[in-house]
Amino acid sequence: MNTEDRTSQQQSPEDKEKQDFLRNRGVIPLHIAVIMDGNGRWAKSRGSVRIAGHKAGVDSVKDITEAAAQVGVRHLTLYAFSTENWGRPKGEVSALMKLLVQSLRSETRKLHENDIKLTSIGEIDRLPPTCRRELEEAIELTTDNKRMELCLALSYSGRWDISQAVSRISQKVKDGILCPEEINGDIIADHLSTADMPDPDLIIRTSGELRLSNFLLWQSAYSELYVTNTYWPDFRRDELYEAIESYQNRERRFGKVPSHFELEESSVAMR
Ligand code: IPE
Ligand code: IPE
Ligand code: MG
Repeated sequence: MNTEDRTSQQQSPEDKEKQDFLRNRGVIPLHIAVIMDGNGRWAKSRGSVRIAGHKAGVDSVKDITEAAAQVGVRHLTLYAFSTENWGRPKGEVSALMKLLVQSLRSETRKLHENDIKLTSIGEIDRLPPTCRRELEEAIELTTDNKRMELCLALSYSGRWDISQAVSRISQKVKDGILCPEEINGDIIADHLSTADMPDPDLIIRTSGELRLSNFLLWQSAYSELYVTNTYWPDFRRDELYEAIESYQNRERRFGKVPSHFELEESSVAMR
């Protein structure tokens, strides 16, 4: 069975068609990172408690992970819990941790069957021991999988990431392994928790907030941003496809001039 067949059993022909359409119309982002926001407001809008929103959000995680792998995304990073989220009421934090354990227990086998490699970024040491154990076991089990990397940002913040990189680089300078003059963007990137991943091509934020909330601060330098008002528990694969389509319509210039200008300029210079 090839990798594409593994999840297509449950896939509708219309969905398969949409994915083929996207692959034919342009480049599929190599790395998509998602700020999964709006669980609390989703629950409130239904007269429910915040945790009901977090629970509903798990179904979106499953759908988006599956669809991303099927359409050909190679890295999917999900912002699941930020450093600042530790400051939420104790009951909410422990409910979120419990949900993480339950989801890892119920979903790891499927991830593995679908050839998805699970990784994580963030201060994993701060997670409760059961969480950490489940996470480490799932990471270990799926370590050789190749189809897509699913990276969970847990107890993560961009400032934490940059700080730990600076600290490790400083130690190398102190130990004489590195000269201060050698420190550049590549060295810093190599010491971030995302060293083994490409920078995100596309960052999606649900629930309409126009901010990064301390997510991948260094890595997002040239990411394309896509914000939708949809709350995370309502965000499903069709909106992921819309985000990818929007990405395909963008022109990424990385501070340079568009390629057709370059051609025009060189023909003017030759005259
Ligand atoms: C995102 O939803 C989940 C986490 C941050 C853990 P929120 O819990 O932030 O939901 P809102 O933004 O309050 O609606
Ligand atoms: C960002 O959402 C963190 C996660 C999605 C895990 P928040 O809800 O914590 O961010 P703010 O408070 O709206 O900036
Ligand atoms: Mg929020």
